[in-house]
Amino acid sequence: MTLFIVGGAGYIGSHMVKLAHLAGHKVITLDNLSTGHRDAVLYGAFEYCDIQDANRLNELFKKYTPDAVMHFSAYSLVGESMSDPYKYYNNNTVGTLNLLKAMIDNDCKNFIFSSTAAVFGNPEYIPIDEKHPKNPINPYGKSKLMIEQMLEDFDSAYGLKYVVFRYFNAAGHDESGELTERHDPETHLLPLIMQTVRGEREAISIYGNDYDTKDGTCVRDYIHVNDLSRVHLQGVEYLMSGDVDSKVYNLGNGEGFSVKEIIEKVKEITGKDFKVIEDERRAGDPDTLIASSQRAKDELGFKPEVDRVEDIIKTLV
Ligand code: UFG
Repeated sequence: MTLFIVGGAGYIGSHMVKLAHLAGHKVITLDNLSTGHRDAVLYGAFEYCDIQDANRLNELFKKYTPDAVMHFSAYSLVGESMSDPYKYYNNNTVGTLNLLKAMIDNDCKNFIFSSTAAVFGNPEYIPIDEKHPKNPINPYGKSKLMIEQMLEDFDSAYGLKYVVFRYFNAAGHDESGELTERHDPETHLLPLIMQTVRGEREAISIYGNDYDTKDGTCVRDYIHVNDLSRVHLQGVEYLMSGDVDSKVYNLGNGEGFSVKEIIEKVKEITGKDFKVIEDERRAGDPDTLIASSQRAKDELGFKPEVDRVEDIIKTLV
């Protein structure tokens, strides 16, 4: 298959590029390098492209005639989306609309979309399955939910087929050490803790200790980035298998760990102690996000390989 991996220079996208290439697919990364890194694209072709640029998209669709598009190119910071919502609606929602238009115009009708647990907001029940009501509490989650809604209409009207994957908390690195997670500035819990372990930061802050959770700190479901990438390949194979329906899947490991628990686990695994500061809440954070991935297991054969949070952390050490 010829695959466009939009956002292939980013954290999850670069892992996807590697796995898709090793699985024998022809891989083309499209990225504007706004948050990604050119040197993270280790396999396949690279094409500079901003998804807002319709002419450039059309040129690339004509050049490669891809069988499917995997779309990882989005801003994804909950806190930033609260202070700069325009950036999120413009890139994530308008940019994706533009990408979908180019797909339809060029008769490419297979789409894999990276959505997020943030579409759910604060959970009404746990674990969160695909039927759970969607009430996002931050612009990031809203920007992604709008795309999910657009996709339903694009399927009905234009026959665009899609698999939406809603990630819970992507974490870990490729075991080879070739690929990493690099954000500037870094805001994610595990990379920040690892910086603290290495002495690159003085302390790790816990954002809020008065949430309605087991120890008052936010609870998240961490899933290894290569497990996410593997199931994307299963998703694209499903789409290419013929006359199939569009699908939506939640992806996590089904177990929640609080911020305090994650800090303790890193201390245990690394044998290093470090300073922890109890800080104010960060705006836009739901208290608990834990996935039910039963549907992906039943229908796609999703089978996480690095499913213990300790093993996810070990890939970072
Ligand atoms: N946290 C801290 N201290 C830090 C950084 C984070 O206490 O220094 C807390 C956050 O408040 C949150 C938890 O650790 O409660 C996890 O935070 P991350 O920033 O690592 O991840 P998020 O849960 O905010 O978001 C991630 C992705 C989103 C996605 C979401 C879905 O960045 O794109 O998971 O669960 F929507």
